[in-house]
Amino acid sequence: MDFSSLSTRLLRLLDPERAHGVAVWALARGFGPRQSGVDDPVLATRLWDMVFPNPVGLAAGFDKNAAAYRGALRLGFGFVEIGTVTPKPQPGNPRPRVFRLTEDAAVINRNGFNSLGLDIAAARLAARGGGIVGANIGRNKDSADAVKDYAAGATQLAPLSDYLVINVSSPNTPGLRELQGRAALADLIAAVRSAATRACNGAARPVLVKIAPDLTDGDRRDIAALALECDLDGLIISNTTVARPAGLKSSFRDQSGGLSGAPLFTPSTELLRDMYRKTEGRVPLVGVGGVADGAGAYAKIRAGASLVQLYTALIFEGSGLIPRIKLELAALLKNDGFVSVADAVGVDHR
Ligand SMILES: Cc1cc2nc3c(=O)[nH]c(=O)nc-3n(C[C@H](O)[C@H](O)[C@H](O)COP(=O)(O)O)c2cc1C
Repeated sequence: MDFSSLSTRLLRLLDPERAHGVAVWALARGFGPRQSGVDDPVLATRLWDMVFPNPVGLAAGFDKNAAAYRGALRLGFGFVEIGTVTPKPQPGNPRPRVFRLTEDAAVINRNGFNSLGLDIAAARLAARGGGIVGANIGRNKDSADAVKDYAAGATQLAPLSDYLVINVSSPNTPGLRELQGRAALADLIAAVRSAATRACNGAARPVLVKIAPDLTDGDRRDIAALALECDLDGLIISNTTVARPAGLKSSFRDQSGGLSGAPLFTPSTELLRDMYRKTEGRVPLVGVGGVADGAGAYAKIRAGASLVQLYTALIFEGSGLIPRIKLELAALLKNDGFVSVADAVGVDHR
């Protein structure tokens, strides 16, 4: 057994939140494995004037406080998204709040934006080296002015990150998902963009919106229309779901919170496909939800994703997953005659 699968097994003996803490601690101190060699050139992806060495990123929620992004990049991810960061520190919901649904290769979490706040995340990002790092921003639970919170996040983190994500889709902060409504979202995007541009001395930072898989068709149409109207830099599809698909086996299935992992793969990929169609392929999409192998990443790319992300599969499979996904994805692309990821984006629609 290699080091990665051994440490994954040991971590699974701990409760999920403690295991996560140990993993972040180890990566932050450089104990994690290092990817050897460079990525296959077929995986290189150009987007927003940046070149991603591969399109497989670490999703938000693992490195909430920007403690371990360097170690995560060393595991072989093409990019890492830190956060969600709230302006002020806040503890989140009482524990236990993360549950492993082992039989379902899934997790339910109701963390509620536990965050050390912007000052700590900013200080840690200020010491950044290479690699692409996005910053996912949110609002405090007790905030009376959500727009101000997101603008504060943009002001502090835009100069220190490569792209910003407006997270309006976590199910665990009351009222948050209402910000996905058209008028509220339009205001929010405008405020974040102007704060980011001001903080970057006039240079624009890509601004993305992360959406929930539980949107109605009307919500989806509104968001697609808005994304086109304001030339949004991208949508991240999707966050966790409050739905509980039939067939979940674990005794934790009725815990409240957002479900991620294998059961989210199909609904999040179908939402991605639908949003690609509704935005006519003109808005870059990041596909996330249940990716656990090269075939899953490839399916999201074919459905319209320019980049993909994952989190839950890492909990069950450990970091050996990352080189494996990249090898499988490169082989699938080449098998179908593609010379780059970009060539395969959205091919299911053609
Ligand atoms: C424990 C946990 C915490 C998460 N925290 C965040 C978060 O703070 N912000 C966010 O945008 N998404 C968060 N997510 C959602 C993930 O970024 C991702 O969208 C979702 O889990 C689906 O991907 P996956 O099936 O590969 O995990 C979290 C997910 C998990 C499992």
